[in-house]
Amino acid sequence: MSNSRFSLVLLLSAALSLPAIAHIERSEPLQSLRQSYFAIVGMTFGPMGDMVKGDIEWNGEQFAAWASDLAAVSSVTVERGFAPGSDKGKTRAKPEIWDNKADFEEKLGNFRMQAAKLAEVAATGDRQAIAGQFRKTGGTCKACHDNYKSRGYLY
Ligand code: HEC
Repeated sequence: MSNSRFSLVLLLSAALSLPAIAHIERSEPLQSLRQSYFAIVGMTFGPMGDMVKGDIEWNGEQFAAWASDLAAVSSVTVERGFAPGSDKGKTRAKPEIWDNKADFEEKLGNFRMQAAKLAEVAATGDRQAIAGQFRKTGGTCKACHDNYKSRGYLY
């Protein structure tokens, strides 16, 4: 093995053994899965909000691309990340989720429905309608977070 190849291997194995660098915590794969899902959701929805608020310049095509990503990502079955027994660990997911599964999944369904609508409205380029549908979609985040997401880590 060449020297540079060897140091690359060292570098990679160091990265994999440091939980602060590796995003997936192997001892808590389900918590990692759902947090990764919501991280993509948040990092897609966030810049869309900046655009709606005028903090960054309006670009209808870019907005529509983000909206399409949001709808696609929302449809990933994150439910498996909330399987029984995954209620502890490094998480902001409140225990109420596991006591109210039907309500939680209904709220997830509302989010997916509004995100799909947002992608449709975004494709029309009608800024006022887009802003309205953006707020509606944001309402579905809040509806779930108010009941089921803690601000800080729970355990
Ligand atoms: C059906 C419930 C539900 C909906 C809908 C929902 N969230 Fe969440 N979200 C959660 C829960 C529960 C967590 C905590 C997960 C954990 O820590 O294990 C979370 C975590 C997050 C996080 C932190 C992710 C991380 O890095 O750990 C962000 C950001 C986020 N949500 C943004 C959003 C946005 C933006 C929307 C709407 C566009 C949204 N969420 C819709 C339940 C929901």
